[in-house]
Amino acid sequence: MRSDVTVVILAAGLGTRMRSNQAKVLHRVGGDTLLGHVIRAARDVASPDRIVVVVGHQADKVRESVVFGGVAFAEQNEQKGTGHAVLCARQAVQARDGLLLILNGDGPLLRPETLKALAHQRGKAGGGSIVTTKLADPTGYGRIIRDEKENIAAIVEQKSLSAAQLGILEVNPGVYGFEAKPFWEHIDQLEPNSVSGEYYLTDMLEILKRQGYPVAPLLVEDATELLGINTRVELAVADGILRQRKARELMLAGVTMEMPDSILIDVDVEVGIDTYIEPNVQLRGKTRIGSNCRVGTGTVLKNCEVENGATILPYVVAEDSIIRSAAFVGPFARLRMHAEAAHQAHIGNFVELKNTVLGKGSKASHLAYLGDSAIGTEVNIGAGTITCNYDGEKKHRTEILDGAFIGSNSTLVAPLTDGQGAYVGAGSIITKNVEADALALGRAQQVEKPDWAKRRRAARKQR
Ligand code: UD1
Ligand code: CA
Repeated sequence: MRSDVTVVILAAGLGTRMRSNQAKVLHRVGGDTLLGHVIRAARDVASPDRIVVVVGHQADKVRESVVFGGVAFAEQNEQKGTGHAVLCARQAVQARDGLLLILNGDGPLLRPETLKALAHQRGKAGGGSIVTTKLADPTGYGRIIRDEKENIAAIVEQKSLSAAQLGILEVNPGVYGFEAKPFWEHIDQLEPNSVSGEYYLTDMLEILKRQGYPVAPLLVEDATELLGINTRVELAVADGILRQRKARELMLAGVTMEMPDSILIDVDVEVGIDTYIEPNVQLRGKTRIGSNCRVGTGTVLKNCEVENGATILPYVVAEDSIIRSAAFVGPFARLRMHAEAAHQAHIGNFVELKNTVLGKGSKASHLAYLGDSAIGTEVNIGAGTITCNYDGEKKHRTEILDGAFIGSNSTLVAPLTDGQGAYVGAGSIITKNVEADALALGRAQQVEKPDWAKRRRAARKQR
């Protein structure tokens, strides 16, 4: 990272073509906002206190969306063009020398390598360098006009192209590396465009050249990373590319994926080596998975921690929860609100854990709701067990101590404690605490009427 790099990110526009009530840069791809991805790339080349984001449309929401500390903001209250946006950032930018990177906030695929290449090109021309690329269909982009020395003479916007310029395929993707000194010295020469009335940042290239500071092009062959998002179709394309990048990064780091194109992994997710991910899995948010785990098909994990050697069978949906080492979860299990499956715990099909810890080696293998509970070690929760944690007004806690055995189809009405090693008979409704090592039965006594069925059949025949 170079210490003299400042980054200004333009993110004040609404983005009409998104057809959205939400500012364009807030739309999400690959597990972060468009703006978030641009800031990530910026952070690789500049320290956070040298990054300025220009906000305008939904300024407060855009500010709130930025989770990286230290980043500064500037406001552009009226969107009078990209040049005007940079003028609005002038106050917030501390340094008047070094390298000034200016990035469009709607280009989430930009790789830090390209920004580093821009920084490396310094000195090639007095005004700095900007990224260019060639597109088969350049419609809508500003076109690059080169001079006799192959420097950039001007950038001409689509609306202002002459017939001769229409054939130019080299475009401006909106990634600029200006020498800060001449840039700030001459920015006041920007004037509103005669066609649109906007101040164009791109006019700076002509101004700088006129002042003796030409800008050099850095032609990037693969235009993929330079895609700017204007519509939801492009949003989906960018999302696909970011997912592929993430999957590739993890596979190269030692994670096995079956049908990686079907697996959705957010940018911040971590996965350890020799973990095996089946098709159609979604790993969202801050999820962290250890090594030697298995993640079954259809599983969706959001902000979860999965420790080494855990097995998640198909179709587990878990949020904000922890699955400890060598635990088994699923198929068809639900964990939410800080649920935890301890080391070697088993959570089977159609079991829901909410704000509940299932202790070491404990099992809830089938059909249970365990809410607001603390369950000790080596406990067996029978099929159909329900903790009644809600009385219609308040939530209450259930404690099931080590070694307890809860018979199938039991109803545990909280607040309640089942003592250590205690048994609850199958089909019980338990409303009072159970002492350690006791057997609690809370069900109707079985009544038996000898020969009742036989008599009934006989009576029917006589009718
Ligand atoms: C701009 C470039 C064009 C380039 C294209 C690449 C200009 C004049 N043109 O055009 O040469 O090919 O990007 O995508 O710069 N923004 C503000 N305030 C404003 C206007 C825009 O912050 O007043 C921000 C937007 O939020 C967006 C970025 O600047 O992130 C680009 O704006 P946009 O309107 O998309 O520019 P283009 O017309 O596409
Ligand atoms: Ca654009």
